[in-house]
Amino acid sequence: MLKAVILIGGPLKGTRFRPLSLDIPKPLFPVAGLPMIQHHIEACTKVPGLNEVLIIGAYPKNDLAQFVQEMSSTYGIIIRYLQEFTPLGTAGGMYHFRDQIRSGSPTCFFVMNGDVCADFPLQEMVEFHSNKRALLTIMATEATRQQSLNYGCMVLGKEGEVAHYVEKPSTFVSTLINCGIYLASLEIFQTMGDVFHANQQQDHIMQLCVGNGRDPAHIAFEQDILTRLAGSGRLFALPVFRWWSQVKTAGSAIYANRHYLALYKQKQPSRLASTSKNHCHIIGDVYIHPSASVHPTSVLGPNVSIGPYTMIEPGVRIRESIVLANAHIQAHSLILHSIIGTGTNVGEWARVEGTPCDPNPNKPFAKMDNLPLFHANGKLNPSITILGTSVSLAAEKILLNSIVLPHKELTRNYKNEIIL
Ligand code: GDD
Ligand code: GTP
Repeated sequence: MLKAVILIGGPLKGTRFRPLSLDIPKPLFPVAGLPMIQHHIEACTKVPGLNEVLIIGAYPKNDLAQFVQEMSSTYGIIIRYLQEFTPLGTAGGMYHFRDQIRSGSPTCFFVMNGDVCADFPLQEMVEFHSNKRALLTIMATEATRQQSLNYGCMVLGKEGEVAHYVEKPSTFVSTLINCGIYLASLEIFQTMGDVFHANQQQDHIMQLCVGNGRDPAHIAFEQDILTRLAGSGRLFALPVFRWWSQVKTAGSAIYANRHYLALYKQKQPSRLASTSKNHCHIIGDVYIHPSASVHPTSVLGPNVSIGPYTMIEPGVRIRESIVLANAHIQAHSLILHSIIGTGTNVGEWARVEGTPCDPNPNKPFAKMDNLPLFHANGKLNPSITILGTSVSLAAEKILLNSIVLPHKELTRNYKNEIIL
């Protein structure tokens, strides 16, 4: 038997994803029509013998209750949400809920960062892990020298064992990076236990002196566990060259949307919209929720997702964008490289346009640059345009490279602005 744990952080994480994460927890943000972590769950359901998924995070239970129920009934496996009383770090939560993970004695369990998207190689990891008799297997991929500094970096020995691991090094270590997807044997709890007890003692001393404000049960999987296991001969990495990316900024959600749509085309083409099925002009890969209404004279695609109950009027053109639920896109408007929030209204002949922020196509293994909102010179970095929830954009207005917070009424043109 196998299990999976999905780490989703809490309301204090995902800040670079605002304003999209203001109304909905970031892990539930829809990419290619499905909440981000539904893609993880779906990948898990394809692994034979995997029948339980535990989602661990610090969001209030109510935020995930409906999602968890829907997932259990859609996939017919056990799915539960375990709430951390305070963020315990990437391993603290797992250690806290260790009895729930160990119950039923799974042979091993996946640990998946909720903020990555990929063509998950889970079955390959199971085979690799058992061949190597590993304690822990890390999914790894290549990055450029410069970008590798933003990830966990590894140096491998001859057998694929991790000889050296450094989390987000300040100087170059290796271009082989940690993808945040792991397969662990139950013995890992022993290592976590050792770290937990060592931390408790250290925290006790620290608290007596100053008090460091961190929960004593906090354990970082990367710094406390992976660094410790490197060189032990039981930590392995499986380099994978399929598509993988982090989802940190809204721009990376557009990138993930494109790739998940391409995976649908490969694996479940029936999920994609088509000109004959949807009676409108479809170009490339497009997802349209069955409850959305799209006028036959509108043109959608490539790489567009349209959410539930959204209405798209005549002559609309949408490309490389995500339109969330209950939006109203009025006649002859244009939407390019943008995310349109829930319940937002885009007026007739309006133009909403962002700048794509894709990985550099000329650099092999380049990943998305998750650029900060502002450049060092104080100017906004050009990025995709985001309209928050229930925004209203008047007819014939132009909105370029801007971020609009929820409930704004826009009656003039904006360019490179954050509209608060
Ligand atoms: N439950 C819980 N509790 N989850 C957490 C917590 C916590 O206290 N802190 C972070 N997480 C979740 C996040 O939601 C995310 O899914 C994952 O754990 C990792 O989050 P970060 O701490 O933001 O790390 P990172 O994304 O910058 O780096 C990690 O992922 C990279 C690959 O995407 C590291 O594992 C890197 O080594 C790795 O390269
Ligand atoms: P490429 O599509 O990359 O060749 O460049 P382009 O400059 O022709 O197109 P652009 O990126 O400006 O627009 C993309 C699509 O939207 C094109 O098919 C245009 O015909 C269409 N388009 C552009 N502006 C408008 C507009 O104001 N309204 C509508 N309905 N469609 C538009």
